[in-house]
Amino acid sequence: MHSIPSNTLHPLFERHQKEYEQKALDVLRSGFYIMGEELAAFEKEFAAYCGAKYCVGVASGLDALWIAMHLLGIGAGNEVIVQGNTFIAGVMGISKTGATPVFAEPDGHFAMDPSRLEALLTPRTKAVLVTHLYGMMTPMEPFVSFCEKHGLRLIEDCAQAHGAKYGGKSAGSFGDAGCFSFYPTKNLGCFGDGGAIVTDDKTLAEKIRIFRNYGSEKKYYNSVAGTNSRLDELQAGLLRVRLGHMDELNDEKNRIAGRYFAGIRNRKILLPSPAEDTENVWHQFVIRCEERDRLQQFLADRGIGTMIHYPVPPHLSGAYAHLGLGPGSLPVTERLADTVLSLPSFIGLTEEDQTYIIDAVNAF
Ligand SMILES: Cc1ncc(COP(=O)(O)O)c(C=O)c1O
Repeated sequence: MHSIPSNTLHPLFERHQKEYEQKALDVLRSGFYIMGEELAAFEKEFAAYCGAKYCVGVASGLDALWIAMHLLGIGAGNEVIVQGNTFIAGVMGISKTGATPVFAEPDGHFAMDPSRLEALLTPRTKAVLVTHLYGMMTPMEPFVSFCEKHGLRLIEDCAQAHGAKYGGKSAGSFGDAGCFSFYPTKNLGCFGDGGAIVTDDKTLAEKIRIFRNYGSEKKYYNSVAGTNSRLDELQAGLLRVRLGHMDELNDEKNRIAGRYFAGIRNRKILLPSPAEDTENVWHQFVIRCEERDRLQQFLADRGIGTMIHYPVPPHLSGAYAHLGLGPGSLPVTERLADTVLSLPSFIGLTEEDQTYIIDAVNAF
């Protein structure tokens, strides 16, 4: 009997195990664990990877979103437009600033539908937060021009899209700030929690550097009431190792996606549809099926693990019940939540196992 998990990190770790272990030892022996050389080097390397001028490491993807929006002047009384079909962290980043999330429906590529923006604009709108969901890049042009036209901030949630591109330009380099998570399962993941903000805005980068470290530029002199949100030396060092292999790892994700595209032939299944002029990094490979729950069980019966990203859209979660958006308020988003299914697409998934998955999906 086959047993293919929905995800596993073992093959990914084992592929470059010696390098990770050596780096961990080096950092442990260095006697310096917070805000040192590894972080400074990683920030430089990751900014270059994203085609941005600056990168500031923080403690998580949620912190990256919250801190970037807060320091861009978003707060109580403001509204931020965010897509309905996103991971809830983006919405929590907005509400942590004191602002109110306003949900936009997605288009046929799982991305925010730019034709919905105008209708959601109010005098309180301060920003748009775009998520490059599943590693599929959002075509950014309409969002850049909408935000320019209305004097809004543009923030990108790139937690699932390290290295994705639109028109040859990287995720995170289109808006005022690009926010990344390095949660272990991300395309660029660390071995704990971590995150970063990339930007071309020098003043914003400086503000983030100060804010993440108790609002202090100089030790024990605190100019603003900041927070403790630092990417530690161990994680930064391990991220540098992984970053060195990013192209190889994203290529493998692409090959896995390519095999699904070539092999899945079932009229009950809708394959993902990347937007034009995008290079995608396939954080998840997400199919759609009207009989999603039955398909999930059918695959489970054949030893194939799958996941649902995400079963409850943020506007229907208990956390945002106070917004009063009941079922039916975002029909496109809710249809996706009821029909999406993520197939295994982890680094190290063998061709043989993938053929077995494809055959099972086609047999459904
Ligand atoms: C789209 C998206 N945004 C934000 C986050 C938050 O990142 P973190 O878990 O590092 O806070 C995640 C992942 O967890 C995510 O998938």
